[in-house]
Amino acid sequence: MAEPKIAVYPGTFDPITYGHLDLIKRALRLFDRLIVAIGENPAKKPLFTMKERKEMVIESLKELKDRDGERVIVESFSGLLVDFAEAHGACAIVRGLRAVSDFEYEFQMALMNRKLNRRIDTVFLMPGFRWIYISSTIIKEAALFGGDISGLVPPIVEQKLKEKYVLQY
Ligand code: PNS
Repeated sequence: MAEPKIAVYPGTFDPITYGHLDLIKRALRLFDRLIVAIGENPAKKPLFTMKERKEMVIESLKELKDRDGERVIVESFSGLLVDFAEAHGACAIVRGLRAVSDFEYEFQMALMNRKLNRRIDTVFLMPGFRWIYISSTIIKEAALFGGDISGLVPPIVEQKLKEKYVLQY
């Protein structure tokens, strides 16, 4: 039997949005298994701890159909992404591309990752149009000022954002 095709879907997931979930569903059509890998982006200071981000991802994945849910695992990682991917037998890194503005950073990261490990390729997927304009950053900003973010993030994320911002005021 052929080896299962494993991909890693890395990100800060601070917090996970329906845009991320859409990408996860798309990646599951292409790969046998998917590892959602929660990492640290040195350029960002996350609102949620790693533990909180991981809990929200796991809870959000309960929305997936059983068959799909069984093919996804959630892990946190530190260090180089390609080392994590290699250690888990992945052949690809999945990243979402929403707009031209994402491209430069994504292209640079994909090429650096390829330089670091030539056995792992980056695959870019576009989210559905409904999710093109959302990002974790814009969701946090809307939530901070009391904006309605329902329908853009899973219920657990909406709840955790409310708790976080109420506690901060
Ligand atoms: O959701 P993000 O913030 O765009 O995700 C970025 C992330 C965590 C995938 C990226 O910063 C990352 O891979 N960090 C680990 C260190 C690494 O391998 N960086 C890329 C090559 S130098």
